[in-house]
Amino acid sequence: MLNIKNAKLRFASALLLGSLMGASSISYAQTLKLSHNGDTKSPVHKALKFFANEVKEKSDGEIQVRVYPNGQLGTQRESLELLQTGALDMAKSNASELESFDPAYGAFNIPYIFRDREHFYKALESEDVGQKILRSSEKYGFVGVAYFDAGSRNFYTTKPVRSPADLKGMKIRVQPSPSAIKMMELMGASPTPLPFGELYTALQQRVVDGAENNIGAVTTYRHGEVAKFYSQDGHAMIPDVLVISTKTWEKLSDSNKALILAAGKDATTYMKKIWGEYTEQELKKAVKMGVEVIEVNKDAFIHAVEPMHKEALKDPVIAPYVKAIKALDK
Ligand code: GCU
Repeated sequence: MLNIKNAKLRFASALLLGSLMGASSISYAQTLKLSHNGDTKSPVHKALKFFANEVKEKSDGEIQVRVYPNGQLGTQRESLELLQTGALDMAKSNASELESFDPAYGAFNIPYIFRDREHFYKALESEDVGQKILRSSEKYGFVGVAYFDAGSRNFYTTKPVRSPADLKGMKIRVQPSPSAIKMMELMGASPTPLPFGELYTALQQRVVDGAENNIGAVTTYRHGEVAKFYSQDGHAMIPDVLVISTKTWEKLSDSNKALILAAGKDATTYMKKIWGEYTEQELKKAVKMGVEVIEVNKDAFIHAVEPMHKEALKDPVIAPYVKAIKALDK
């Protein structure tokens, strides 16, 4: 009798232990969905895969990041909205697009605010600028994890652009962002905000006469098949930003939060290296595609957007960042 009782007890505890072990492996392993609008050949996709691998390795497989490229889960704007409701965990966006969700990102969108790439990186790494901005959006439903180089933005158009006067009457696609629209108006063009994924067709159907971006848009995204002039006025350096939903963030342990931020830093460094190589190689590809690369005198472009610098210094949200960015340029 006693033996049967003991056997039953052992069986019951074995069951309990089994289900506990099962339960623990389910509750601890988690997959974070990450959306972005880039091509699988783009450097940003490679940097995001690098980030996902780091997170997996450093967490011993406890956290997996599944990367969904090509806007499969929506445009950058739609992804941010999903993040705010907690339906999506992570997204890569751009500071330009993020400005509508957290005005602090507007500091990066003032044309010609960065002197060069070194100044740009100093600002991203600075505690008073880049790092503070990453932490500024928790109340808006997302938290910044890392920045990615997205190069220098230049015009690419169906007619050559050598000065702001040439932009008159041209419809130029911009990112859906108040600063991008303002900049284009000051330069004399007609701004047309559109999601990136719709741009190839818009160029092809002549809905717009051009756009502005890094050289990858011309080559990797084939916009150079339609827009044959790339004018290097270098009006902006606007970083891509990896963000996580506040709802997902709050569920993570402190050590997993630290691990994700550390993987983000490593991914930024990795991107810095591959971005430089990519840009050089893509400029050559653009020329082979028949795109004319135009060196322009930047003075008139710089002059046209001066009012944005003055306004930024009066804006209570971005003025402290803009001042700090300018002070780094010493
Ligand atoms: C850059 C940036 C993208 C953005 C795009 C755009 O390529 O990396 O995140 O979507 O510009 O102009 O929309």
